[in-house]
Amino acid sequence: MGNYKKLTSGLFISFEGPDCSGKSTQVNRLAAKLKDRGYAVLETRDPGGTYIGEKIRHFVKHVGGENAVCDEAELLLFCAGRAQLISKVIQPFLNEGGIVICDRFADSTTAYQGYARGFDLNFINALHEISTCGCWPDITFLLDLEICEASSRNKTRLIQNNESDRIEEESITFHENVRKGYLKIASENPNRIKILNADEDKNILHDLIINYVDDTIRVNSSQV
Ligand code: TMP
Repeated sequence: MGNYKKLTSGLFISFEGPDCSGKSTQVNRLAAKLKDRGYAVLETRDPGGTYIGEKIRHFVKHVGGENAVCDEAELLLFCAGRAQLISKVIQPFLNEGGIVICDRFADSTTAYQGYARGFDLNFINALHEISTCGCWPDITFLLDLEICEASSRNKTRLIQNNESDRIEEESITFHENVRKGYLKIASENPNRIKILNADEDKNILHDLIINYVDDTIRVNSSQV
């Protein structure tokens, strides 16, 4: 990692939230800011981030009709993609002292496949143990958004992009269950998950995020 600033045990940050909560914008801005400050930063996404993960991303999001994945395959594919992402990309980068910023991670499976699709949460936690190898984010920003607001942002985006998305097109009830699931997960992990109001101005959100990350770097990690 050459002359980049390094942190003793790396820093793993994830962003979560319902579809169209503005995660990707905040991921990009945070990564750019930390790179400007001289840190080694890896920006990645789940599903995705590896050759296999990007193929999985395509299947779970965009293949519909008779070839669409069933719910069971969907759950296992998300976990398989994550295992590959952790072992090939995220863990090696953290081991080098870098900062990983991931657009979604295992909480998405708990919220979408657990709380919304209805898979048993204990079973999902057991899958997380295998797929994450115990590597969890140090900080998770949950961009919380009312579902009616999220779904109107979704429709606009899908129309603009002219692409179908199996999961974004699920019912309002499904997405409400995702949101409730996220809030429950956050209430159970108050030290890791910071809830932000996704309706807030983008610049204010960015400032809140960078201040929180700065504090965490100061408190938890000494630079080497
Ligand atoms: P996104 O990266 O554009 O948000 O798209 C990912 C989609 O996949 C989104 O609808 C949430 C969904 N998803 C799950 O259902 N389970 C998961 O474990 C993950 C990572 C994403």
